[in-house]
Amino acid sequence: MGIMGDKLPVLLAQVEDIKPQTYVEIGCFRCDTMHEVKRLGVPRLIGFDLFEQAPENEEAPLDGLPVTWEEAQKFGYELYKGNTWDTLHVLKDINATDPVMVFIDGGHSFETTLNDIEMVQKYLPKAHLVMDDISMHGVRLAMQASGLNWKTVGLETARVDL
Ligand SMILES: C[S@@+](CC[C@H](N)C(=O)[O-])C[C@H]1O[C@@H](n2cnc3c(N)ncnc32)[C@H](O)[C@@H]1O
Repeated sequence: MGIMGDKLPVLLAQVEDIKPQTYVEIGCFRCDTMHEVKRLGVPRLIGFDLFEQAPENEEAPLDGLPVTWEEAQKFGYELYKGNTWDTLHVLKDINATDPVMVFIDGGHSFETTLNDIEMVQKYLPKAHLVMDDISMHGVRLAMQASGLNWKTVGLETARVDL
């Protein structure tokens, strides 16, 4: 599962700190987290997900049904369906207003996580990146391989993985 329970406050504290004008979530299946971020007044929310069964080596979707397009429209979310290997190029053209926050909680294989990080770096170089599930081997390796400096926050209250 994604950021929930005692990890959610850690993400929301980052949102309150950074006050993003644009929030991007990679892996947003039910949009539970996006709803919480929206409640904090973030004006533009953009999400990416397969919105269907994930490949075996990736993170499975959450239980339940994905957000419906009607619901997404009602909340004003801009959603992109498909594998992030194919969809993240749209970041090039989204004209995001700074500050931008990107929460990466999609596929957790090394390759996909690194691709997600690199695409964000390429097209949104000033974005504040927040990673979920950092205890997972592929995620950790990809973070190291990205060459970025990562700061760990909230570990004392966050569950290692959900
Ligand atoms: C842990 S869940 C995300 C939960 C979400 N952050 C929330 O709070 O509701 C991981 C999501 O990543 C998606 N996913 C896995 N691999 C993906 C890929 N290669 N491209 C796009 N989405 C992917 C899955 O469909 C799943 O919904």
